[in-house]
Amino acid sequence: MQSSRTRLDRFLRANANINRRHVREVLASGRVTIDGIAATDINRVIDVFSHVTLDGKTLQKNQRRNVMLNKPQGVVSATRDHKNKTVIDLLDFDYKEQLHIVGRLDFNSTGLLLLSNDGAWSRELTSPAGKVAKRYTVGLESPIDDSYIDAFQNGMYFEFEDITTLPAGLKILDSQTAEVTLVEGRYHQIKRMFGRFDNKVVSLHRDSIGNLSLDEGLVQGESRELTAAEVAGISEA
Ligand code: URA
Repeated sequence: MQSSRTRLDRFLRANANINRRHVREVLASGRVTIDGIAATDINRVIDVFSHVTLDGKTLQKNQRRNVMLNKPQGVVSATRDHKNKTVIDLLDFDYKEQLHIVGRLDFNSTGLLLLSNDGAWSRELTSPAGKVAKRYTVGLESPIDDSYIDAFQNGMYFEFEDITTLPAGLKILDSQTAEVTLVEGRYHQIKRMFGRFDNKVVSLHRDSIGNLSLDEGLVQGESRELTAAEVAGISEA
């Protein structure tokens, strides 16, 4: 579902068969409500989650859906795949087909994966400009040392995309395990960054996105809806 915004008059013309001339009149008479309040402004902008009624009859009512999954290995972060099981296949919600993935994890990566039907929310979480931190625990084939910390902090040039990665945090947890914090999600970013050191990632687990940590009560493959407080607080500074 798109979270696109549209002007109320355009919405009424398309969804209530009210022609351009009558829209102003219908609005002025208070027959239209948005989220329970009479809407009279012809320039009013609504989105797909605005609850709109005309003469008490609902014209649009879509609920925001936000879900967290503890992603296991061997599952594709896609809504459809002709070969492998997808993260959608693991969900048990009757609305699961409406969901999109909010920041993919690779086939063998595990941990916190968010799914939503709210495009604006997803963009806020995944756009590098939003600077929402994603924290990962990464297992490496070879030992790591302090030189990795500067390299991650300084950014790395990725020729294919012609970008330099934004400063990334790296904390050494033990000789072959690091905690990595990214504010973006380039293709195979963590694997490629360790690849610069010829060091292979052997396990990759996402622990948190913004202020939201993976619910430890969820075993791999399990999911649950986010609470309203979790949704509101995820990207708060
Ligand atoms: N970086 C990767 O390389 N893989 C992931 O799954 C996530 C971040």
